[in-house]
Amino acid sequence: MELSAYLKKETKELHEETEKSFAHFHLFSDDFHIDHYKKLLEVQYQWHKSIEYLVDHANCKYPYHKKSRLLEKDLNSLGQKVSIQPLREDLDYHHLGLLYVMEGSMLGASMMHQFFVKKKLIEENVLNYYKYCSNDGARTWPSFVKYLNKPEFLEQKEQLLASAKYAFNLISKYAEKCKN
Ligand code: HEM
Repeated sequence: MELSAYLKKETKELHEETEKSFAHFHLFSDDFHIDHYKKLLEVQYQWHKSIEYLVDHANCKYPYHKKSRLLEKDLNSLGQKVSIQPLREDLDYHHLGLLYVMEGSMLGASMMHQFFVKKKLIEENVLNYYKYCSNDGARTWPSFVKYLNKPEFLEQKEQLLASAKYAFNLISKYAEKCKN
């Protein structure tokens, strides 16, 4: 089994749990409100900053696009302050496992973008992150999967999976914290 298929299979339940942890943002519902959007951006910003930090400290050769800049721009335009939460530093991670979750999350974000556009609640100038995911997510995902499936990474599959699980759990933790 290729690494991408292995990660998809082994993180299926975690993806579902992550979606559940997003329930209080009222995505895809008539109750969705701009305040939910602000909270959602905060969670995404915290998480992207954390993952980008770890990836950048791992001599990453994959040319990924930093999306925290777009999230920061959107948060600033909404008058929201941005702050970073401290991160667990003792993780023995593999940056490609983290990147798998970060790059893959653009597929879900692209669906969210369609919903935001339909809702007309969110102004175009604060949709930079979601617009990027919608335009570039589907385009860049196949190239990432091709890179991930290089045979040389297969022997590190357990470490990659542990890192992907860490990334999913981290965003769920940030989303749960945001409820309070
Ligand atoms: C309500 C929120 C979300 C929805 C509705 C959603 C939906 C989706 C959809 C439709 C796909 C494409 C599945 C396919 O083509 O087989 C996908 C893929 C993916 N999503 Fe989500 N997603 C959500 C949130 C997230 C979050 C927050 C993350 C991680 C931070 C995430 C990580 C991923 C990953 C890694 C993939 C790639 C799976 C693979 O093909 O290997 N998703 N998501």
